[in-house]
Amino acid sequence: MQLSLLQGVVALVAATGVAAFKPACIAGTEKLAAEALAGIAELSKNNPGSSCTVETAAKRQEWSALSVSERIAYTDAVKCLMAKPSILDPVEVPGAKSRYDDFVAIHINQTFSIHATANFLSWHRYFTWVYEQALRNECGYEGYQPYWNWGKYALDPLGSPLFDGSAGSIGGNGVFAPHGCTDGLGNGINCIPAGEGGGCVETGPFAGMSVNLGPVFSAFDSPDIVLVDTLFKYNPRCLRRDINVWVSSNWTTDHDSKKLITQNADIVSFQNAMQGDFPNGVYGVHSGGHYTLGGDPGADFFSSTGDPAFFLHHAQVDRTWWIWQNYKSAEARLEAIGGTITISNQPPSRDGTLDDLIDMDILADSRPIREVMSTVGLKGGPLCYVYV
Ligand SMILES: *[C@@H]1O[C@H](CO)[C@@H](O)[C@H](O)[C@H]1NC(C)=O
Ligand SMILES: *[C@@H]1O[C@H](CO)[C@@H](O)[C@H](O)[C@H]1NC(C)=O
Repeated sequence: MQLSLLQGVVALVAATGVAAFKPACIAGTEKLAAEALAGIAELSKNNPGSSCTVETAAKRQEWSALSVSERIAYTDAVKCLMAKPSILDPVEVPGAKSRYDDFVAIHINQTFSIHATANFLSWHRYFTWVYEQALRNECGYEGYQPYWNWGKYALDPLGSPLFDGSAGSIGGNGVFAPHGCTDGLGNGINCIPAGEGGGCVETGPFAGMSVNLGPVFSAFDSPDIVLVDTLFKYNPRCLRRDINVWVSSNWTTDHDSKKLITQNADIVSFQNAMQGDFPNGVYGVHSGGHYTLGGDPGADFFSSTGDPAFFLHHAQVDRTWWIWQNYKSAEARLEAIGGTITISNQPPSRDGTLDDLIDMDILADSRPIREVMSTVGLKGGPLCYVYV
């Protein structure tokens, strides 16, 4: 009986030619995430004034935890944002055609003051939240920002529900287009071998979408990449990806994330390890996720926001920080900030503080970093979400 059932399954798989995707084990970080939720519940007890609790908070879910129709509701909302007109000044920012592009433009504009800085994590947390609000308030999306749990797909990103190119994915790989290795670290060390993609994404919900801004400084080595000569130039083109298992399997496994969270006790070493140690050839999960996408604009430090998978990646960056902040239920981690206000302290600058404003330009009110340190409002501010 059981044997014939097994034979039937084998025959079915052979007949359809579809090998089922097998997620990698993510038990290491799942345990820490559960501890983080418990940690938040514990800290919330001392904050009876706040209306946000683990119970009332929005629940951000992993991509494959959503049903296919929930995933399509998300990508439909993103496409709705891409169909709404920009609210930026068209003379100053000619390349911003849509509300989606507004997010790309703001990220481009602030690139040097939001990476390898004290506000890297907080700026991207607030940015991703403002994006989630735009999907909900301007495009009728009823869910919350999903995240891409890197470790789950690290060994087979192309076969994963995130990138398999089906209607319920965030888009497939690019079609093959010859290209060189991607010098993600900018120094030739661990240049990422060209994968099977590199051309336009022609499968999934974003087939045919127009990328309008950038590339400003792309690591993608393709003969037809032309960098823009002004920051906000209108440069319409297809979305290109080279989804790359070399990067994901070497730099974004569950083990990599667990090690990052548990072996960096202070915020400076945590945020540095996450962003990578470029002179020593280390990507870190942040760069690792970006270069798993690769292509254009994915491999451009400035305009990578133009690939809609950016926000799933940055939700996971945020979740990883959120786990680090909360799994020990240590109040001090909700006030931990380190680093300066210029990229890798170039040019040398003062230390960032919790009172520094996160500049969202036309996207939303600027807020002190302090107000986004807790995702459940334990330090004030409007955030009220947890990761499940
Ligand atoms: C870019 O940043 C500068 C300096 O903060 C600001 O004056 C300008 O309005 C910003 N432009 C856009 C498009 O965000
Ligand atoms: C990981 O990187 C090494 C080189 O450092 C390479 O030999 C290996 O093939 C990579 N893994 C995959 C799955 O591509």
